[in-house]
Amino acid sequence: MAGSLAGKAALVTGAARGQGRAIALALAEAGADVAICDVGAAAVETVGYALGGPLGEVAESIEAYGRRALAMACDVRSAEQVDAFVAATLEAFGRVDIVINNAGILTGGVPAHELDESMWTTMIDVNLTGAWRVIRAAVPHMIARGQGGRIVNIASVAGHVGTPGYAHYCASKHGVMGLTRAMAGELAPQGITVNALCPGLVDTPMVAAATDDVAAARGISVEEAYELQLTPHLIKEKITSEQSAAAVMYLVSEAARVVTGSALMIDAGWSAT
Ligand SMILES: NC(=O)c1ccc[n+]([C@@H]2O[C@H](COP(=O)([O-])OP(=O)(O)OC[C@H]3O[C@@H](n4cnc5c(N)ncnc54)[C@H](O)[C@@H]3O)[C@@H](O)[C@H]2O)c1
Repeated sequence: MAGSLAGKAALVTGAARGQGRAIALALAEAGADVAICDVGAAAVETVGYALGGPLGEVAESIEAYGRRALAMACDVRSAEQVDAFVAATLEAFGRVDIVINNAGILTGGVPAHELDESMWTTMIDVNLTGAWRVIRAAVPHMIARGQGGRIVNIASVAGHVGTPGYAHYCASKHGVMGLTRAMAGELAPQGITVNALCPGLVDTPMVAAATDDVAAARGISVEEAYELQLTPHLIKEKITSEQSAAAVMYLVSEAARVVTGSALMIDAGWSAT
């Protein structure tokens, strides 16, 4: 895809590491200027693993492709911070063509009736409402420019199936699917596609933390916990962030201009069973 996104500007949330980082770099490699954000120093209560990390390395890697980078701390739970991130992107690049809603958290391991208020509301606030806040800030500019665009929401296989112990995560990702499908119809007349990427188990710090929790809870090794988590994969491999990014690159490509409201499953067959 080298050069295919030349002249375009993209923004990616939760881009300090994992899939967001890989997507940001793939966009830059294809020629886009990329604005990245992550939660920064803000603590996200209920999350028991370390989030984020410095954005500097990611920004430098974007620039190494000869593209412009903008890096900002932005907690998608804050409308003010999201609005400021989108405004800074427009100021830096003069446009936004591609929006990647990737920021997310994973907590769980307890049944829905044992979740406390904070676990539920924080999950929905980050994974679902956060994506909507970014869309609310960016879409008016995309419509006003009249040159179409691409929105990709990183949902999950958990937007399609129910995973016991993760009802709040599943609810947030099913919500992302509803947001995606409704907005596909709203924005089709403007040539803006809205799609969801639905990964299975991707090898990122989020999953590493969940695997440690499973190992500790069951008294098994981390390797055994990984194997256990791979049970629903038909292909018994962890997905890589680069495989996830490659799927996003299809959704933002010219080839996908008639693909909207879809869920691209890169779930090693999980949802097929
Ligand atoms: N790893 C998987 O198996 C998997 C599977 C399906 C879907 N997903 C989804 O993919 C996306 C990326 O996750 P990942 O696997 O790369 O995990 P990750 O934890 O490595 O990356 C998520 C990033 O989002 C950031 N973030 C969290 N809360 C934020 C907030 N309030 N504001 C801004 N940034 C915030 C984190 O700091 C982190 O850098 C998430 O939406 C996740 O739910 C992951």
